[in-house]
Amino acid sequence: MTDGLRKGLTSYGDAGFSLFLRKAFIKAMGYSDDALDRPIVGITNTFSDYNPCHGNVPDIIEAAKRGVMLSGAMPFVFPTISIAESFAYPTSMYLRNLMAMETEEMIRAQPMDAVIVIGGCDKTLPAQIMAAVSADLPTVVIPVGPMVVGHHKGEVLGACTDCRRLWAKYRAGEIDDAEIEAVNGRLAPSVGTCMVMGTASTMACITEALGLSLPMSATIPAPHAERFRSAEASGRVAAAMAKARGPRPSEILTPSAFRNAQTVLQAIGGSTNGLIHLTAIAGRSPHRIDLDAFDRLGREVPVLVDLKPSGEHYMEHFHHAGGVPKLMAELGELIDLDARTISGETLREIVARAEEVPGQDAIRARDKPIKAEGGLAVLHGNLAPRGAVIKQSAASPKLLQHTGRAVVFESVEDMTARVDDPALEVTADDVLVLRNAGPKGAPGMPEAGYLPIPKQLARAGVKDMVRISDARMSGTAFGTIVLHITPESAAGGPLALVRNGDMIRLDVAARRIELLVDAAELDKRRAALQPRGTPKWAGRGYAHLFNATILQADEGCDFDFMRRDGKG
Ligand code: FES
Repeated sequence: MTDGLRKGLTSYGDAGFSLFLRKAFIKAMGYSDDALDRPIVGITNTFSDYNPCHGNVPDIIEAAKRGVMLSGAMPFVFPTISIAESFAYPTSMYLRNLMAMETEEMIRAQPMDAVIVIGGCDKTLPAQIMAAVSADLPTVVIPVGPMVVGHHKGEVLGACTDCRRLWAKYRAGEIDDAEIEAVNGRLAPSVGTCMVMGTASTMACITEALGLSLPMSATIPAPHAERFRSAEASGRVAAAMAKARGPRPSEILTPSAFRNAQTVLQAIGGSTNGLIHLTAIAGRSPHRIDLDAFDRLGREVPVLVDLKPSGEHYMEHFHHAGGVPKLMAELGELIDLDARTISGETLREIVARAEEVPGQDAIRARDKPIKAEGGLAVLHGNLAPRGAVIKQSAASPKLLQHTGRAVVFESVEDMTARVDDPALEVTADDVLVLRNAGPKGAPGMPEAGYLPIPKQLARAGVKDMVRISDARMSGTAFGTIVLHITPESAAGGPLALVRNGDMIRLDVAARRIELLVDAAELDKRRAALQPRGTPKWAGRGYAHLFNATILQADEGCDFDFMRRDGKG
């Protein structure tokens, strides 16, 4: 027996009247009693004119509704916040927790026996899964799917690794105004999420590895017919879950599921953001992501997926090579194949059906990896007492051990104002340092960690430098870039103590990031720091809540009161 329309009645002090009134109003939409007696599957609608990545959401909704109805349940579509990466001020991460709170509360507030969440653009899947874990209602995730690739002068192009690569060429004077305009029209040739292994693709793959979405749903291109058949099948699964009242996220998200997700994150050369989001999702559950254990896992797990920015291909190639099931088949015993998924199948059953595609080279065999170690490494040292992250698979090998002089930018604004100043004293061997760009500092930990190479150096042919910050970086970006330095400088972390000319040592093999200044001098600098107080932007509303309760990167940047056990 499901609760259907009887669930969560509005409080009028008379349950019978509450149901009578609810039915009276919903009948205004033309529903029959038969329809209203069915189990209900809620479906989130994150379509927005501001979110081109979600441009196929109306068609996905139609297909999912079809699947729900073919299985004898009733779909109810409801709107939630939609967040598009390039349309979110100051940064999408600032809004992720708002979307998670809003989605959770609408799942709780409205009558439904299961829910389908449809998302994709970077912060949306994490927000929806955080919500689903907290609400713990049977949940099916449908990623919107990646864009198809673009083409320019015979070259395959993709958002947004190639956006950054070609913009860097433009800054260096290697391509002109007309060409960059032409490229602008070719980087995103369809709706869907960025088709490299950026944060959106990373989160879709992690979702599949967690067992929260159907096999292959991470990789089917957004415009393909298969995407909508998968949505229809997702609707059927959601209807079955509504009738069976399970499995709930708490039954799917076991320690094995989280370990599988971390293994896949390493093996795909996934986005550094994926680690923050997975940590936040785990924080809503009884389980935790341990950064050091994640790093140890990375030493065992090779990068097998050859996608930009760590490799060469794009998401549609990964899909046609067999997608996440084939990847998990290659990973073998590194994956716990007994983990269950929403359909009731184990990963073992899913992996057994993985397609063998002759000649494909997007998913490598275990003995021919792209990199012998996982994509992400966790660093510690006197600059990052609670950790920092580097995507070593997308870094320059020769810079992974490097000591250089600090060139410090106080904030994103300061960096923007000075990085191209011809008077800036900087060489290719220096270490660019950006601070006050963490969760509280900027606020929202913007994707500013991909500091541009100063124009004077870019024009001289410099393609990469060591760059460090308490910011994040887009999963589509590349370079020798240390991110998520924790605690952040605005929370009194040691990044606040760095001065121009200090020496900084990066040693990725040893997992160290050190400020080569003696402890007594650092104590002196720390004592001279001004207390931060409440910044002007945080005076009221959501900004106030954000500033007062945002956690650091090692805790997933969730709000302190939103984790499973609340503030206590
Ligand atoms: Fe939406 Fe990249 S901008 S996924």
